Amino acid sequence: MSEQSRPWLNPDIDIIERVRLLVNAMSTEEKVAQMIQISSSTVTRSDADEWASRGAGSFLHTLGDDARRVQRLATQNRLGIPILFGIDAVHGHSIHNGATIFPSQLALASSWNPSVVEDMAMITAREVSAEGLHWTFAPVLCLGRDLRWGRIDETFGEDPYLCAVLGRAAIHGFQGDDVSDPQRIIACAKHFIAYGESTGGRDSYDAAVSMRNLQMNFLEPFAAAVDAGCLTLMAGYESVDGIPCSAHSVLLKQLLKEELGFDGFVVTDWENVESLYKRQHVAGDIVEASALALSAGNDMIMVTPRFYDAILGLLQNGKADITQVDEAVTRILTVKFKAGLFDVPSKVLTLALSEDPTVKKTAKIFGCEEHLHHSLETARKSMVLLKNRKAGTLPALPLSDRTIKTIAVIGPNADSVRAQLGDWGFFTHPTPKLDTKPEFHVTTVLEGIRKAAQERGIRVLFDKGCDIADPNQHSIKNACRIASKADVLIGVFGDSIVQNGEIHDRCDLALSGAQNQLARELRKICEKKKIPFVAVLVNGKPLEFSEIAQCADAILESFNSGTLGGQAAAEILFGDVEPTGRLPISFPRKTGQLPVYYNQLPGWHAESYYDCEAGPLFAFGEGLSYTDFSYDSISISKPIASSGETVMIRVGLKNCGSRKGTETVQVYVNDLVSSVVTPVKQLKGFAKVNLAPGEGTEVEIPLEIDSLALVNADQMRVVEAGEFEIFAGHDSRDESLLRTVLIVK
Ligand code: BGC
Repeated sequence: MSEQSRPWLNPDIDIIERVRLLVNAMSTEEKVAQMIQISSSTVTRSDADEWASRGAGSFLHTLGDDARRVQRLATQNRLGIPILFGIDAVHGHSIHNGATIFPSQLALASSWNPSVVEDMAMITAREVSAEGLHWTFAPVLCLGRDLRWGRIDETFGEDPYLCAVLGRAAIHGFQGDDVSDPQRIIACAKHFIAYGESTGGRDSYDAAVSMRNLQMNFLEPFAAAVDAGCLTLMAGYESVDGIPCSAHSVLLKQLLKEELGFDGFVVTDWENVESLYKRQHVAGDIVEASALALSAGNDMIMVTPRFYDAILGLLQNGKADITQVDEAVTRILTVKFKAGLFDVPSKVLTLALSEDPTVKKTAKIFGCEEHLHHSLETARKSMVLLKNRKAGTLPALPLSDRTIKTIAVIGPNADSVRAQLGDWGFFTHPTPKLDTKPEFHVTTVLEGIRKAAQERGIRVLFDKGCDIADPNQHSIKNACRIASKADVLIGVFGDSIVQNGEIHDRCDLALSGAQNQLARELRKICEKKKIPFVAVLVNGKPLEFSEIAQCADAILESFNSGTLGGQAAAEILFGDVEPTGRLPISFPRKTGQLPVYYNQLPGWHAESYYDCEAGPLFAFGEGLSYTDFSYDSISISKPIASSGETVMIRVGLKNCGSRKGTETVQVYVNDLVSSVVTPVKQLKGFAKVNLAPGEGTEVEIPLEIDSLALVNADQMRVVEAGEFEIFAGHDSRDESLLRTVLIVK
């Protein structure tokens, strides 16, 4: 075909028309091929080449020479439709060894700061696009409520509102205002929907969530993603109330595409279509499964290439509807046009260019100074000080307030690169290679402390103390011998990379190995020597930290903090950086207490278990500063308001300590009388406020009356008139909140 006969290549025509022209020129085979997404890890090289020549719409996890080869084949065929390359760049382009790795999504959520998340996404987009890839399977908008689930580290935590705010920021960071910008990439909100509710926290099992509950609790982040212009969305692995997400036309077609008006495309998750007959048994074979997936509203099929023959066969027999294929292809091609794949040379040519000189060019981008600086900044803002009691006459932290000669750093995660970088990196994906050597320097907590200590002439001693996995592997005696030489003890505890991630769910969140025993022994030394015991947590998700909380005078939660996380932790410990993070997720005392998320529906019998104290160990929103804040007043700009209006929640706040600090003022709401049972409280707004010592201010946080809507028994979203308690304060616990009442007419 000549250029003239490919009018869709003309950038002066609008996208809707270009797509129409292209779809009209496509054969049925070419259309169905566009719906196929191939993973290079599951096909031979010659099969990959054949799929590219046949016009497969997308490849995932395909990098470097492989990507260049298949892209060339695809763009050389008669229609010249470029392949869309997808990758899981969840917290940095971290599958690429050498790229900048940011704190995990859960850590980023602890910043309660959309611009921190947006920054991560923007830098990630730069590094992903430098490699010629176009699309990341992020952000994850599942709620992290069942902590046994392996993918908690990938979430923005347990709260729909916070998740929605941060999800929006991530999408804007990836896509920018114009996703055809050479340094922007397509975002993919995943996994639609309620995936984190899989039974027993076991990945991919049924989420027994009703449609009403689903719309009340799990839809908000996805609705925000659609509103933010997210171009793609991924269907979850699980079934929702017995219907697999990829066979759920009510979810995909009715709710997502019709009601929310999503105009991008839906991609299935890995082998979702095969699973319809192999694992979930709602279809007898691949043909039935493919028919079901097509009619349910999936547009792109990840890693089930047999969909192609199945659908072609069905179309030939008149058993499938070509208009459904046309709709899917139209959606896919629209995204490709919007993302500039047909017009912006670098979107396709980067692959060709980087064959030689751009290796140097991309090397300058991956892990460059500017990007590492952003990674460090996000880590600084993502850490949460959970405890800081007095050790002697002073609070245990910051260390800069003490005279210290020797610090002992003890613990299995003090010097663990893998634990610090977390999941979705080159250690774990596309295939696990735990022994890979990082091509860049990772500053662990131990190294960060060593550097900060050296600048102050402090000696640092180290012992691992114990092994995360094996309770019999420990050197507790040696650790104690070293600890007894120090005047500050820093214990670094947590979990390992294999205790997190997909298909790494846990039935027990107790600290593994001999970590609790180690903490108890270290406590004894601290009591005897009257020295502070500071715990730093390096972990994918909340674990049972009750023993550590008892033993330690101070606790800094760092989660998986990325390339320079250890430096950020040290800066906070020494007081060079103020701790500003707040928990986006509640911590249990015991696994059997789950779930412990704060926004539960009320019951009226025992709040606690017979054998466990009530409430979480650390609650949603908690986090300390090195200064103190007082909440002095709460009022509402308009105490009686109606749907459509926005009122201001006004909060009197003062920094009553002696250091500058950043407070996160949180606003929660409780519907006092409603037609259905509603959560005891729900976050509806927050603001970050910087205050100098002694400084006071009135903080204003907007509250839209429509955000008070519930989904009633008839599945209608309505704002019910009546009284709403409005709370404002430091965190989600009753004792931290001021209260007033808003009347909705
Ligand atoms: C995960 C997705 C991921 C996909 C591609 C699946 O197993 O559930 O989150 O995007 O693989 O790597």
